[in-house]
Parts: sequence; C-alpha cells; structure tokens
Amino acid sequence: MSTRSASHLITTAAALAVLVGCTSTKSSDTGGSTLDLVEPGKLKTCTHLPYEPFQSRKGNTVVGFDVDLVDLVAKDLKVKQEIVDTPFEGIQTGEDLNTRKCDLAAAGMTITPVREENLDFTDPYFDATQALLVKKGAPYHSMADLKGKKLGIQQGTTGETYAKKHATGVTTVEFEDVTLLLTALKTGQVDAAINDNGVLFEYVKKNPDTAVATEFQTGERYGIGVRTGNDKLRKEINKVLKKSRADGTYDRIYKKWFPTAPKK
Ligand code: ARG
Repeated sequence: MSTRSASHLITTAAALAVLVGCTSTKSSDTGGSTLDLVEPGKLKTCTHLPYEPFQSRKGNTVVGFDVDLVDLVAKDLKVKQEIVDTPFEGIQTGEDLNTRKCDLAAAGMTITPVREENLDFTDPYFDATQALLVKKGAPYHSMADLKGKKLGIQQGTTGETYAKKHATGVTTVEFEDVTLLLTALKTGQVDAAINDNGVLFEYVKKNPDTAVATEFQTGERYGIGVRTGNDKLRKEINKVLKKSRADGTYDRIYKKWFPTAPKK
C-alpha cells in the first residue's frame, strides 16, 4: 500500500468515527438521555387511579385520555411510558416529582397558582369544571340546596377547595379516591359528590341511577406536571402536544374518550 492511500484510509476511518459518534449522540438524544429520566429508557408517569376516562385500569394495563397523550411523548422520545399509581396528595404537592418517583404527573390535574409553586406545568391540554353528582331525581341542584346535607369530596382536589369555599352549612365528607367517593354517593353515605365534570359524566353513563345536577363553571385547565425547573421535559411535552393538535392526533384521541368534540 502506498503512503498516500494509507493516509487516505486513516482519514476515511477518522471521518467514519466522527460520523458514528454523531449518529449515536443523536439517537441517545431521541432516547431521552439528555432529559435526565428517572430510569433510562422509560418515561415514568405518576397518576392516581382510577380517574376514568383520563386513567383507569383495564385488565393488566392502564388506559385513558392522559395515558394516550403521554404515550405520544414516550413515542417521540423512543421510550416506553410506565405508570406509577400513587395517592393524589403526593402528586399535587410536587413531592413525587421531587423525590424522583416519576418524570411527570398526568392525573387530570388542574393547573393552580398554589401547585405552580411546587411543580411546573405544561401548556393546558384539557378544560374542566367542577360538577355535582346526585342520585337521579334527588332535589339538589345547587350548593344552597345541600344545606344541612352531606357532600362528598375527594382529598386534595380542586373539588375540595371549591367545597370548602362555597359549601356553607353543608357537611363535607372526605374520601381518598374517586371510587370511594362515588360508592358513598350510591350507598347514600353522602347526599351529593363534587368532582370534575368529565369524570362524573363518564360515571353517569355507566350508572344511570345517578345524575349530574349542575356544573359550577370553575374554568379549570389540566396540565401535565414536571419537576420545578425541568424545562427540557416540559418543552418536549409542549412540543408533542402542539404537534398533536396541529396534525389531528389530539382530536382523534379526544373522540376516543369523549362523546363530544373538543372546544376550539
Ligand atoms: N382536577 C382535579 C384536581 O386537579 C382532580 C384531579 C384528580 N385526579 C386523579 N387522578 N385522582 O384537583
């Protein structure tokens, strides 16, 4: 081999090494490594089950609107979403994110100023309002109608905040999760239950002996939570949310879980 072709070979090899180097950096980028994930190769989602149709168990898997949205992010990052079911209190206080129990929180969680002090939210992805669930035909159509009666609330939620502020003369009874809350209504332990409209309307579909008596127009918006300062992940989620709205994916997922089209 002539000196010339040998040096040419070396140059090619060096160029190749650079190229390979580039490619692998790029692919680890899309594998989520630059995002400092709690466990490499996974996107861990904290949520509090059940919260149908946002997240609920179906056989061995967890399905729902939030699950589908986060799956889009996981797909974009070329990792797999893993759901961590944990009490809502640890989610909404930011504790689960701070202790790295998960990368993000997707739990039908309303963006509130208090929560924003403890975690960062993505752009809003869903509109909600508080609503009142009663037994069908019950004479309660407002908070005022519930004077002297029992109102069930879910711990740590915006429904609890609303009830504490507006349910004057009403006895509130706290429940740890929405199943306990709705069962209490069914069995007559409480006269009414307050929770997010999307969840209550879903429940009424399957429990025709109950009805949504009113909605309170609290003007809530759900956001996905990340650790305070985790801008990389927050921006990544925002990017995926924005794209899904633009290309029709968001609408397709919405229609899969809700009977009416999303408000524009
Ligand atoms: N949107 C309400 C809130 O943020 C209720 C959320 C409850 N979510 C759940 N997965 N249990 O307070």
